[in-house]
Amino acid sequence: MSQRLRKVVFPVAGLGTRFLPATKVVAKEMLPVLDRPLIQYAVDEAVDAGADTLVFVTNRYKHAIADYFDKAYELESKLAQSGKNDLLAIVQGTLPKHVRCVFVTQPEALGLGHAVLCARPVVGDEPFGVVLADDLIWNGKQPGALRQMTALLDGDVAGAVAVEEVPRDQTNKYGIVDTGGDASRAARMRHVVEKPKPEVAPSNLAIVGRYVLPGRIFELLEQTKPGAGGEIQLTDAIEALLGKNKVLAYRFEGTRFDCGNKLGLVKATLAMALEDPALAEATREFMASLR
Ligand code: UTP
Repeated sequence: MSQRLRKVVFPVAGLGTRFLPATKVVAKEMLPVLDRPLIQYAVDEAVDAGADTLVFVTNRYKHAIADYFDKAYELESKLAQSGKNDLLAIVQGTLPKHVRCVFVTQPEALGLGHAVLCARPVVGDEPFGVVLADDLIWNGKQPGALRQMTALLDGDVAGAVAVEEVPRDQTNKYGIVDTGGDASRAARMRHVVEKPKPEVAPSNLAIVGRYVLPGRIFELLEQTKPGAGGEIQLTDAIEALLGKNKVLAYRFEGTRFDCGNKLGLVKATLAMALEDPALAEATREFMASLR
């Protein structure tokens, strides 16, 4: 398997119910952490991993994501005319020139596995990445999580999922991995089960929103029946993959913020403000004043 990951899929067709009413009109992935939407952090991570083709699995309401990565003619010409070149560079800098975007529609929100399957005509047979933008993984100036995972691929390793330990009482929110007790940073997956109750979960090692998968996963997704929550689950297809293929559970370097819920988005915003020299001190003072 090649070390390079050309294509990365962004499933962005979920309903985002935890952010209603905002998500009536704004896709969850367009919610900002400081001045950048979640999808921008996700795209930056994919580009950092070497991707040149970004496949967005969207629904008919989510035009904002396509608009965001498109050229903004009127705004750009106004900024150029008024000599605001720094702002112009920001507006034009959402995507490097060599990267292209492809949009496919998921007609109905039938689950993450189904969303990934919708990308099959664009991805074909090659290995590809999946990034869930609501899991923001920040590793500062160091290689992003997807790049770290791509480096694991070789002839022997067919794929990798990003994992981290979660509190036992939260296993029913995640795909939970069984590594047969192997606690190494990149451990072979023996099994994976979607949203098990704490008492039956094989571990507390949870998959977070990064996957590197072989093209063969699509055949398995075709055969996957609705699972937990009545949705077609990506983890069920990965479980089927494990029979013949070596897939690693990888404890990434970086901090993950679960921006699919309100507290996670607040934490990410504060953490990013503290990273920004222009905001750090005032943010610290404000937080101290709250006590
Ligand atoms: P979530 O489980 O977070 O669901 O999906 P959601 O609809 O986005 O949000 P809530 O739970 O209602 O608040 C995980 C990821 O899978 C995508 C979502 O967009 C998100 O990135 N997804 C989920 C799809 O693209 N299609 C689906 O049918 C389901």
